[in-house]
Amino acid sequence: MLRRWSSLFLAAFTLVSVTACADTAAVTVSRGVVAAGSGMVVSAYPHASEAGADVLRAGGNAVDAAIATGLALAVTHPTAGNIGGGGFMVIRFPDGTSTAIDFREKAPLRAHPEMFLGEDGEYSYQIHHRSHLAVGVPGTVAGFALAHERYGGGEWEALVEPSVALARDGFEVSERLARSLAGRLEAFLDYPATHAQFSKDGEPYQPGEILVQSDLAATLERIRDQGRDGFYTGTTARLLAEEMVRGGGWITEEDLARYQAREREPVRGTYRGYDIISMPPPSSGGTALVQMLNVLEGYDVAAMGAGSPEYAHHLIESMRRAFRDRAMFLADPDFADVPVARLTSKEYANELRPTIQTDAASVSDPGDVETAASWESMETTHYSVVDGDGMAVSVTYTLEGGYGSYITVPGAGFLLNNEMGDFNGRPGLTAENGLIGTEANLARPEQRMLSSMTPTIVARDGELVAVIGSPGGRTIINTVLQLVVNLVDFGQSPEGVVAAKRLHHQWLPDAVRIEEGFMSEEDAAVLTAMGHEVNWSRGQGIAHCIFVDGATGTIVGVPDPRDSDGSAAGY
Ligand code: GLY
Repeated sequence: MLRRWSSLFLAAFTLVSVTACADTAAVTVSRGVVAAGSGMVVSAYPHASEAGADVLRAGGNAVDAAIATGLALAVTHPTAGNIGGGGFMVIRFPDGTSTAIDFREKAPLRAHPEMFLGEDGEYSYQIHHRSHLAVGVPGTVAGFALAHERYGGGEWEALVEPSVALARDGFEVSERLARSLAGRLEAFLDYPATHAQFSKDGEPYQPGEILVQSDLAATLERIRDQGRDGFYTGTTARLLAEEMVRGGGWITEEDLARYQAREREPVRGTYRGYDIISMPPPSSGGTALVQMLNVLEGYDVAAMGAGSPEYAHHLIESMRRAFRDRAMFLADPDFADVPVARLTSKEYANELRPTIQTDAASVSDPGDVETAASWESMETTHYSVVDGDGMAVSVTYTLEGGYGSYITVPGAGFLLNNEMGDFNGRPGLTAENGLIGTEANLARPEQRMLSSMTPTIVARDGELVAVIGSPGGRTIINTVLQLVVNLVDFGQSPEGVVAAKRLHHQWLPDAVRIEEGFMSEEDAAVLTAMGHEVNWSRGQGIAHCIFVDGATGTIVGVPDPRDSDGSAAGY
């Protein structure tokens, strides 16, 4: 039975569907808000949310449901859902303790800092981002297996089976997926296995048609029957390594066999009495999030008001400082000494705040910091899970670019990531585009590349409040920051927290991108007068979140309205 969690809201929100708190209740799946009593999954595709909620209803816990959802997304959301990529899982247990699973990809054993240089000795964007050398050793299956071994409750086979069925029997292609696949079909021509898998004899899938992925089903069956070995050894590993040889990539069967996911201590902070639990390095997300919240805590943000120039200015200045520190210090902690405790301390925020002028923009000065001409994709996907005992799981995982490297492993049916692009391009490379890196984040054997993914859980007084996160490259951290501020400072409803417009500043380039509707053009002109360079954006992030109403115990699943496929499934 669900515990009653104390929390903050509830302002009124529109319930698209409400299900009773009973184990016999059917799972309700909706592209809108769902409120339920016993369990909830919110993800980027209805079949995946439903697969997770079915696991909960059958008695599985939130970790079990997260595994089933993640594997189902690998079938139904091929742009980012994956078994050929990696990511992060933050878990909060019903007793209030928490942990994190790091299944970020690793560089292969042959990797070295200058591996993205072309024959002319110059940095090559193509090699770095769109080649077999751009593929990192995948981590997703190892991460799910580790989470299951330590914290799962259900049978592994039952968690994998829904994804096997979706791949083997097919699923209905949504309008959004049809549009996405059609848009990439020409580019897929260079990748015959990908073109074959995601077209109907060369023609684009139409909405409502059934997409079957037989090779992927066979791989998922091996994972179902052999666990992590079904991916990292035997047939799957051989097929992947053979594709690497064909394409000039460096991942070998040895790299795959050696890959290990890691359990790590989450980054923990507080914001006005709320507990923030998020992802530690090799993600920069949790560290930067807590750093920015600490800075904002020193201001009366509620009094400034959502969308005000004053709020936007202080938000931007917090972001500017956190992203500078991200560039300077953040990397794989197995390879670099990352000062997380200092960056996330209240004392450090107290030192930063006086550097912020109340009415004038700072200037982002890279000084002699090395910057790298890398590029970070807006793709990736986030999903949230809460079970009836109050266990919460926040997962963000990715192939890096949409459809990753575009390389489908022939005979194995899954897309490979291009995550090596999140390493710096080469030592000393400086670029004006502001995509930053340091020595610490260069490619080295078995190092994990720096990430921005920020799967996060919010609690208060020992009770679960929210499970949040988003895709969006570096915007992820700032999207999650604003979700917390919307919840805590502005007291918005669950729907409001997610729907509210957002902004993004990442130190360099020294410009803010403001989602249309965040503020009026007149208020933006006030920011410009302060010295901020303002650009407008059409969208920022896709935050599929869950909130818990402490007064009633109701679990509220809120798919981000920016994603027409985002779906909540609760019962
Ligand atoms: N590839 C996006 C990230 O890791 O943040």
